[in-house]
Amino acid sequence: MEQLLEKIESYKKEIEGFKAADVKAVEEFRIKYLGTKGVVKNIMGEMKNVPTDKKKEFGQVLNDFKLFTEDKYESLKSNAGNGHQAKASGIDLTLPGDEMPLGSRHPITLMRNRIVSIFERLGFAVAEGPEIEDDWHNFTALNLHEHHPARDMQDTFYVQQNPDWLLRTHTSNVQIREMEKGVLPIRGIYPGRVYRNETVSARSHCFFHQVEGLYIDENVSFADLKQTLYFFVKEMYGKDVKVRFRPSYFPFTEPSAEMDVTCFICGGTGCNICKKTGWVEILGCGMVHPNVLTNCNIDPGKYSGFAFGMGIERPAMLKYGINDIRLFSENDVRFLKQFTSTI
Ligand code: PHE
Repeated sequence: MEQLLEKIESYKKEIEGFKAADVKAVEEFRIKYLGTKGVVKNIMGEMKNVPTDKKKEFGQVLNDFKLFTEDKYESLKSNAGNGHQAKASGIDLTLPGDEMPLGSRHPITLMRNRIVSIFERLGFAVAEGPEIEDDWHNFTALNLHEHHPARDMQDTFYVQQNPDWLLRTHTSNVQIREMEKGVLPIRGIYPGRVYRNETVSARSHCFFHQVEGLYIDENVSFADLKQTLYFFVKEMYGKDVKVRFRPSYFPFTEPSAEMDVTCFICGGTGCNICKKTGWVEILGCGMVHPNVLTNCNIDPGKYSGFAFGMGIERPAMLKYGINDIRLFSENDVRFLKQFTSTI
């Protein structure tokens, strides 16, 4: 009796430690322990030698042993079935998986998406244009003639192989490309990278990002421009922000304006960011110049429209408290991984 119990215990240990690398080994287990001449049957056979008064107690032990062996068989079977190839090649499927590091979006992308999605809700459609552009789309069609002084405002990188090609100095080239398609009305929002030959420092860079907006239809007025930009500012900077339009000059809009918002750092009381003025300039805008419409074969007698352009870097720097524009393009993972949003 004692001997039999010991035997069962040692079988249990053996069974517990049994490892099956493949389906073949699982079958070997079944034959050895659960087969017609297997261990379980064999021990069951010992029942007849057990004294009657112990039969009940011993029957329980035997039954537990049988269930234990069957459980083990089931688990061996399902493991081997799951990946017997992997098991055969020595891979341990029971090891915990490697952690998958979750990437994050670049802060410029986050800010770009924020800006663009506000206009998308107003029905503006996203489009993009080329970064290597010709003189016509970047300057001439936008009413900047060859000797126009405003060309000097935008120090241009030219492409050596072809003097007509340049790196676009603003996203306004996309206005022209979209108008040239000849499908009206137009309600578009155009994000992208632009280039200017400027000395790289903490505050300025030779490439940066803009979002351009364009609305062309019959009877579009300056009131439509203001209302659209008011909506944008409230969505972007909150209900309490105040807005100010200052007359300005761009060759491709008439009238032209620049828009300021009350400083979102100090709330308008004056700080270093707003140079103690309480205001921050966020965009340039205006009614599309009739010459520009004509250049794109749109009749300025019938159609009118507005356009605006804003930078992405500055709002991103203010929102995330970034004090050096160069960080955006250095690809330092310690910087990038601080922006946890993946949207
Ligand atoms: N393209 C202008 C700039 O880069 C911004 C602008 C766009 C102004 C559209 C008016 C209308 O400064």
